Amino acid sequence: MIIAIDGTAGSGKSTTAREVAQRLGFAYLDTGAMYRAITYKALKTQIGLEDPGAISRMVEETRMEIRMANAERGMQNPESSNQNPVTRIFLDGEDVTLAIRSPEVDQRVSLVSSYPRIREKMVELQRKMVNEIRNGIICEGRDMGTVVFPKAEVKIFLNASLRARAKRRQKELTERGIHLSLQQVEADLARRDRLDSERKVSPLRQAPDAILIDTTDLTVEEEINRVLEIVKKKLNFRIRKQWRWILARWVLNVIFYWLLGARVKGRENIPDTGPLLIASNHLSYLDPPLVGWAVRKREVHYLAMDGLFQWKKGFAWLMRQYNAIPLKTKGFDRKAFRRATGLVKSGEAVVIFPEGARSRIGKFLPPKPGLGLLALQTRAQVIPARIVGSNHSIRALFLRRKRWGIQFGPPLDLQITMSKMKIANIKERFQTVSEEVMGKIAEMQVLNSNH
Ligand code: DC
Repeated sequence: MIIAIDGTAGSGKSTTAREVAQRLGFAYLDTGAMYRAITYKALKTQIGLEDPGAISRMVEETRMEIRMANAERGMQNPESSNQNPVTRIFLDGEDVTLAIRSPEVDQRVSLVSSYPRIREKMVELQRKMVNEIRNGIICEGRDMGTVVFPKAEVKIFLNASLRARAKRRQKELTERGIHLSLQQVEADLARRDRLDSERKVSPLRQAPDAILIDTTDLTVEEEINRVLEIVKKKLNFRIRKQWRWILARWVLNVIFYWLLGARVKGRENIPDTGPLLIASNHLSYLDPPLVGWAVRKREVHYLAMDGLFQWKKGFAWLMRQYNAIPLKTKGFDRKAFRRATGLVKSGEAVVIFPEGARSRIGKFLPPKPGLGLLALQTRAQVIPARIVGSNHSIRALFLRRKRWGIQFGPPLDLQITMSKMKIANIKERFQTVSEEVMGKIAEMQVLNSNH
């Protein structure tokens, strides 16, 4: 299991990643230390930092040895059992673990880490090391979730206000006997943020499927607990494999696929993990189980109109078993939306039917603002889904008189929509986003017969 933790300088990444690794007995790889080690050696040997070719050659000629904590690789280091695991780095046999934390290295490391050739080498090394790990590993850096391990099972992005980060960094430096003013530390962090985010290769960026944690007002312990909670949830899910979902999948395979001939397209568009909204048009009672069955690779939650829960007793029970969140259709159901937002932010997938009601005749109904609210508040990826034919009679489906099924589209790029939007009224904004998504669903090619 790979856990990718990325984030800005001073967001608390290292402290949190280290401590979480320690508590879970996972290996820990600090990739920043690798770029720091190269910078350190380049400074020490006075190789021009502006000369990527010379630095590359220097890297070729250097024996870099990285010892991860808890790595179970035969060369376990003494730190693995103590309170504070670190990634120890040796250059040609010299332990540089502490030396790479100097302000000089701090100042120059962003430049060195912006060179594509250096990055290529480091990424290769990082993947190789992680491959050797049998247990879980926490990889910390700037591009873990986006570039190095795009398939990491958990992705977390940590951020905090510049002021909060500067205060933490200043305290850390003071403890090491380095005294800088808050303004100096703040300026250095801002400069590094800029360089790290604006560089061409692997810029610092939140992966679309990463869970964002704002650590501005969190204590270290709270930050650690948030991350632990997310990881443990994932671990539990893997261990229990949710028998309910296995059972449902099996039953629905028989009913939907074998008996009623439902078809699914575009499942590859659904990310395996991370915050997600799935927005679908709505034709019949079959739609919620159809979406859940069609997603297949992950558990989903539904925002389901409370009317559905009054349909049949057994059906309501079943809906609750399968993560349905009852949504009052009259007025704005704050509680339901708060719950859905929380779920998405913690990395779950939530299915929503923006029309807010079934359109039995197959025409689209005007969407409600709820989807826009969820999309804007969670900033999660939105996958459009188009259902066709579920409004036909079971008999027609059984006799294969009508084609039916669901198609998932690629994630929508709503960030652009949002920046284009200059609407002051928040409700109108939500409405605009919902309409945009509904429009995209309507544009989707209707499932064709060869699938
Ligand atoms: O996390 P840190 O402060 O030790 O990182 C030092 C620098 O290395 C940081 O300015 C950005 C760079 N870095 C990177 O470009 N990619 C990584 N995966 C990790 C760090």
